[in-house]
Amino acid sequence: MKFTLQAQDKLSQARAGVMETAHGKIETPIFMPVGTAGTVKAVHQHELVNDIQAQIILGNTYHLYLRPGLDVLQKAGGLHKFNGWDKPILTDSGGYQVYSLTEVRKIREEGVTFRSHVDGSKHLFTPENVMDTQRVIGADIIMAFDECTPYPCDYNYARRSLDMTHRWLKRCCDRFDSTKPLYGYDQTLFPIVQGSVYKDLRAKSAEVIASFEREGNAIGGLSVGEPAEEMYAMTEVVTAILPKEKPRYLMGVGTPINILENIALGIDMFDCVMPTRNARNGMLFTRNGIINIKNEKWKADFSPIEAESDLMMDQFYTKAYLRHLIRSQEILGAQIASLHNLHFYLWLVKQAREKIIDGTFYEWKEKMVKVLGQRL
Ligand code: GUN
Repeated sequence: MKFTLQAQDKLSQARAGVMETAHGKIETPIFMPVGTAGTVKAVHQHELVNDIQAQIILGNTYHLYLRPGLDVLQKAGGLHKFNGWDKPILTDSGGYQVYSLTEVRKIREEGVTFRSHVDGSKHLFTPENVMDTQRVIGADIIMAFDECTPYPCDYNYARRSLDMTHRWLKRCCDRFDSTKPLYGYDQTLFPIVQGSVYKDLRAKSAEVIASFEREGNAIGGLSVGEPAEEMYAMTEVVTAILPKEKPRYLMGVGTPINILENIALGIDMFDCVMPTRNARNGMLFTRNGIINIKNEKWKADFSPIEAESDLMMDQFYTKAYLRHLIRSQEILGAQIASLHNLHFYLWLVKQAREKIIDGTFYEWKEKMVKVLGQRL
């Protein structure tokens, strides 16, 4: 993988760059639609490519390992072949899902034992087998196996967990570096900074992670319930330490405002279920603020979903019709709203990129942050 920085904002740490992977280029800052089970929920591949120009999607090791399982993925020739997406894919390691989705789990030095949320069967994830699983899935960018600490998290727990995440990282790297890709194209492994909301732990973790000298680095354990100001403070500590010439990925973040503030702090990559999950509940992000399409207010509003948007569906369908679809739990409602929100997120990061390149990012960001939180 190659990363080239193209522009750096003068008034903030924001940067624009381009990543080159075996499945194509990614212009940063970028938002990665979440495709947990190998599909971005309610959105077709051709819509991702043609309507909203998604450049990379995310998959989850935990889900794909449980279903359809590694035998199917290997026989298919990897996830790209299985789902027909021939652009870049990033897979998360399960280091978040085993904590958030499974109730019965045991964390030991060896790894994590957990029960499947699908059928209750028992499994063990170790740093080694999670690398092997991500070889089988075949994503371009794969993530280290880590422990994502909850919020709030006691200092001593966060410190001990961090040390274990670092020991796990060494095991991930050893396994990854001693195995080969299965499908003839390169994969790259990103390590993950942890440390809860403690500046000293975050700084220590960032130093350890940087010392592994991988091609990109990630920040985890944020957007888990802490106030936004604490999240920004942690990003600031970490981005001051992580190497400037490598991409930085902030995992699981966030609202449109969180994304803009973290771009300003030097983050290049984001993913979050928010645009798709909230879409299914009727929350629409627009360039003028947030709409709850289920509100009475939109009942007979026959204006386009978003007049300023260049997404065909935003022009074709009205607010009143989308309100009706979502309230009736029609599948089409989830499809339109999901595509709308992803289009908005991708528009936002593309605008940010253009503003960084033309030198007007900071004023634009300040203005947008005021607008984007408004409830319409
Ligand atoms: N997704 C959101 N946060 C995290 C994290 O801390 N670790 C991993 N592996 N995935 C995440």
